[in-house]
Amino acid sequence: MTTRTLQTLHVRTFGCQMNAYDSARMEGLLRERLGLLPEEDPDLADVIVLNTCHIREKAEEKLFSELGRLHKSRRGRPVVMAVGGCVGQAQGSAIFRRAPFVDIVFGPQNYHRLPEMLTRILAGESRVLDDASVAEDKFESAPPVVAHQGVGQVTVQEGCDAFCTYCVVPFTRGREWSRPVAEVVAETERLVAHGAVEIHLLGQNVNAYNGPDEQGTPFDLGLLLRRVALVDGVKRIRFVTSHPKQMDPSLVEALAEVPEVCPYLHLPIQSGSDRILEAMGRGHTVADYLHWVETVRRARPGVALASDFIVGFPGEDEAAFAETLALVERVGFDHAYSFKFSARPGTVAASLPDQVPEPVKKERLERLQTRLNAIQWEKNRQRAGRIEEVLVEGMAPLGKGHLSGRTPCNRMVHFPGDAEWIGRTVRVAILEGLPNSLRGRLEKEPP
Ligand code: 5AD
Ligand code: SF4
Repeated sequence: MTTRTLQTLHVRTFGCQMNAYDSARMEGLLRERLGLLPEEDPDLADVIVLNTCHIREKAEEKLFSELGRLHKSRRGRPVVMAVGGCVGQAQGSAIFRRAPFVDIVFGPQNYHRLPEMLTRILAGESRVLDDASVAEDKFESAPPVVAHQGVGQVTVQEGCDAFCTYCVVPFTRGREWSRPVAEVVAETERLVAHGAVEIHLLGQNVNAYNGPDEQGTPFDLGLLLRRVALVDGVKRIRFVTSHPKQMDPSLVEALAEVPEVCPYLHLPIQSGSDRILEAMGRGHTVADYLHWVETVRRARPGVALASDFIVGFPGEDEAAFAETLALVERVGFDHAYSFKFSARPGTVAASLPDQVPEPVKKERLERLQTRLNAIQWEKNRQRAGRIEEVLVEGMAPLGKGHLSGRTPCNRMVHFPGDAEWIGRTVRVAILEGLPNSLRGRLEKEPP
């Protein structure tokens, strides 16, 4: 590697929005500090970073098959290969053993040191491992993240102390930590200066936010939403992901009273059975969850609800699964993510008795997704005939001359229009609800 300079970078992201955010920060940082330019084709890039996810086994398997593929196709070309994110944290130097051609391994708290890690490789070190786990200073060192035109993201909280019995996040992302209010506000202002009108506040467990303000008073998420809404130029705010056991009146009031806060709540429930919720260590019952659903719907009529589900958790029998299906019918989610339980090494649930056989998990997942998809489509159809305010994010991937954007309720809309509207909000008449998106027509051109 010492004989060449590095010019281009390819970052591949696996997993959640927090990872997508971290990837964007890495790109900004490496461009700013080392002048690396993005290269879409990994086979042509000088530096490849795989930003990984450890949450389910499948995600981890994907990483190793992708690494093998990339190694093959570089055909001896000297490329710096780095593995970051949660697998980097969880497996550390074991990655070098399984994929000896990897040069750098780092955890989610350490990407701000990537320029130094690359410099060390260029100086002749054969391997660099950085998996120290402190969240604090990485935020200082990278330019702000504009995810799409008009949409800016701010990580406000990291880590999780909930220790759900199936989940690796508390081990890979570490303890809960909140960014101070002033930092969140300053980053929001920078994002607005870069053209953002919609701000996403991100956190593994965003409801646990308790960052201090300038006087050292802790702000909860409700107060933070109110503060961010005061930043000039902010038209919309979203926040993800919420934990039902940490729902509180302050957040509900912010949802009800702050017009900039979008009518959208991602509130994972995982299962509709109290027995399974208890075994998962979720810290709440189905009745608690329904209480918050009703409270939020009363406070902010029209709010869209999204959730996460795990099927085939150890001990889930047909009756418990039927309770999940019943909950799905009762709540009527606008959107949901659903997964088969994946036994993660080191978690309590991995060694519980009564593991559910794979074919049963598969069959339950199909049944659950059939209902979730049907309800989502029905909800999308109900939106036909309405006028929605859409923030235009970009050109639609399919269909020439079509733009895509999102409604306040986070539904994707495709409609014919001009690229010059990207990053702006427009009024769109919804013509049709499709299974995964809406089709519309511009109602009025933006001023
Ligand atoms: N198996 C399956 N799904 C999981 N999730 C987290 N851990 C696991 C696991 N071990 C899902 C949960 C969580 C989402 C981010 O990923 O539904 O809300
Ligand atoms: Fe994992 Fe539970 Fe924390 Fe979510 S709340 S990150 S599922 S431990």
